[in-house]
Amino acid sequence: MNKALSLILATLIAVPVAASDPQNGKKLSRKCSVCHGQLGVARDPEVPHLAGQSARYIEKSIMDFQKGERQDRRMSLIVKNLSKEDIKDLAAWYSSLELSVVDPNAN
Ligand code: HEC
Repeated sequence: MNKALSLILATLIAVPVAASDPQNGKKLSRKCSVCHGQLGVARDPEVPHLAGQSARYIEKSIMDFQKGERQDRRMSLIVKNLSKEDIKDLAAWYSSLELSVVDPNAN
């Protein structure tokens, strides 16, 4: 491999990829738990569960609330000052929670 190219590749690989931090997401989720429940299972029938939801969907939903493409008086307010990293960390935390589903009619 040509030297210049391998140097470029090495630099690209060395650039730290901002990995999401579910433990920070857990801390941040304290202010979400009033509505979404401590482990992402909501009691209020108007509030969706977040436990086990895909990180991609959670991130997209939060960004839609930030951009005003999705509106809800509670959510639009709470997500206002979340940074991109906060959103990724929150999504990583909620998506890491394992959910089990029981079909009541299965036997
Ligand atoms: C005051 C109550 C409240 C708080 C606090 C709250 N939420 Fe919500 N959240 C809601 C409601 C209500 C909805 C459903 C809104 C709608 O109908 O579109 C929702 C929707 C969402 C959705 C979309 C879920 C889906 O299935 O479409 C995500 C993601 C979410 N909230 C994340 C968060 C996060 C992260 C926090 C904390 C930073 C938070 N919420 C704090 C009430 C709350």
